[in-house]
Amino acid sequence: MNAAPAPPLLRLGVLISGSGSTLANLHARIADGRIPGAVIAQVVSTRAAVRGVEIARAAGLPLAVLRPRDFPDGPAFSAAVAERLRAARAELVLLAGFLSFWHVPADFAGRTLNIHPALLPRFGGRGMYGRHVHEAVLAAGERESGCTVHLVDDQYDHGPIVAQARVPVRPGDTPASLAERVGTAERELYPAVVRAVVEHGLEWLAEFATGRRPPLSL
Ligand code: GAR
Repeated sequence: MNAAPAPPLLRLGVLISGSGSTLANLHARIADGRIPGAVIAQVVSTRAAVRGVEIARAAGLPLAVLRPRDFPDGPAFSAAVAERLRAARAELVLLAGFLSFWHVPADFAGRTLNIHPALLPRFGGRGMYGRHVHEAVLAAGERESGCTVHLVDDQYDHGPIVAQARVPVRPGDTPASLAERVGTAERELYPAVVRAVVEHGLEWLAEFATGRRPPLSL
């Protein structure tokens, strides 16, 4: 008897702007089978000369460099990104260290995720990336930080939360040591959410947007 055909792979679009560590982690885990059922169908970078572009090329991933400044305005840039993702038949879009504003069009609403290195809704927003986030967390005297995966709406680092992971802030932490601890949590959290979407489907993911499903604590 023939085995049942494998279900189609969930096609990911990954949007990057920088060092591409999130992309590298996702690619490595797909390649070694730790995220079964997903494939990176398209990478879009908003910068040409960044490590993330080198990572995408070395991995042989479909890559488009779309720089906001090459477009007349924000909506034209957003439309070009959406066109590329549609052409690649991307089903789930992952912002991965993406520093530009992408206006999520209706057909990608409820299926576009971002990861942020703090416990949103605190310590997010424009300019809050990299060490700025961890500096702000330390300056506020927080005892805890972490990372957040959320559905993307029309504001930076904003939208219904899908999952969070928490890490302690330790006495003597520097932005670098806290970034390291949060980064370790991020490398588990994003793949875990993608695996959950593969398992439960895009309709399940969209339920976080309606508030019918409370955030996961992973
Ligand atoms: C990650 O820490 C991610 O949480 C953060 O960028 C880093 C990934 O960059 N994103 C944000 O701060 C979004 N506001 P990389 O994948 O380019 O190395």
